[in-house]
Amino acid sequence: MLRRADGGSTLDVEVLAEDDWAVLRQVRLRALDDSPAAFLSSYQAEAAAGEEYWRHRCLAYRWVVARNQHRAVGLVCSVKVLDRPADERHLESIWVDPAHRRQGVLRAMLHHLAELEPEVRSWLVWVLDGNDEARAIYERLGFASTGERQLLSTLGRSEERMRLESKAAVRDLDDPGSVP
Ligand SMILES: CC(C)(COP(=O)(O)OP(=O)(O)OC[C@H]1O[C@@H](n2cnc3c(N)ncnc32)[C@H](O)[C@@H]1OP(=O)(O)O)[C@@H](O)C(=O)NCCC(=O)NCCS
Repeated sequence: MLRRADGGSTLDVEVLAEDDWAVLRQVRLRALDDSPAAFLSSYQAEAAAGEEYWRHRCLAYRWVVARNQHRAVGLVCSVKVLDRPADERHLESIWVDPAHRRQGVLRAMLHHLAELEPEVRSWLVWVLDGNDEARAIYERLGFASTGERQLLSTLGRSEERMRLESKAAVRDLDDPGSVP
């Protein structure tokens, strides 16, 4: 699906299929290499994984990729968590190529997800403490803290959960000016 990002460029936003596993591998490794502090996983750990691992990830979760002139520039994963309500999804592995940030790429991917998963009422995201930029961006998109925090003791890090009511957000994603 073609979408126009705020920067004026045309984005191709779509869901990856199992056979797109190499695309997922390539863009996810770029994300881990570019923004190691934003994620719990590491480039080294995922670079060592083979085709079976990436095919499984493609199949198990819904991955949305944004392409600009055929090059992947953004990634979001929507995960249905077993012990959470059926109308919730966790958003993970969120990343946009630095050269394409602040041009509405994340907004466009969320909009696409909202259309693909109309049954979903809310999106949840864990933000690691210290990632103030991502937190500010999520707040700008309408996410608010749920007040839930978790300590990742083995990693010596902590994170906070944020939530966005996705139904209401679609209108705001159409009209960014309406987001407070
Ligand atoms: C978080 C990230 C995916 C955002 O992607 P993006 O495509 O640049 O975001 P968008 O352009 O869609 O911006 C969404 C809103 O946030 C605002 N915004 C973007 N960057 C911002 C920044 N650095 N500070 C404050 N607001 C910002 C935008 O202006 C936009 O609001 P508007 O349309 O009302 O003006 C990107 O910054 C990134 O990849 N960061 C590194 C990895 C990371 O931290 N991932 C999150 C892990 S939880």
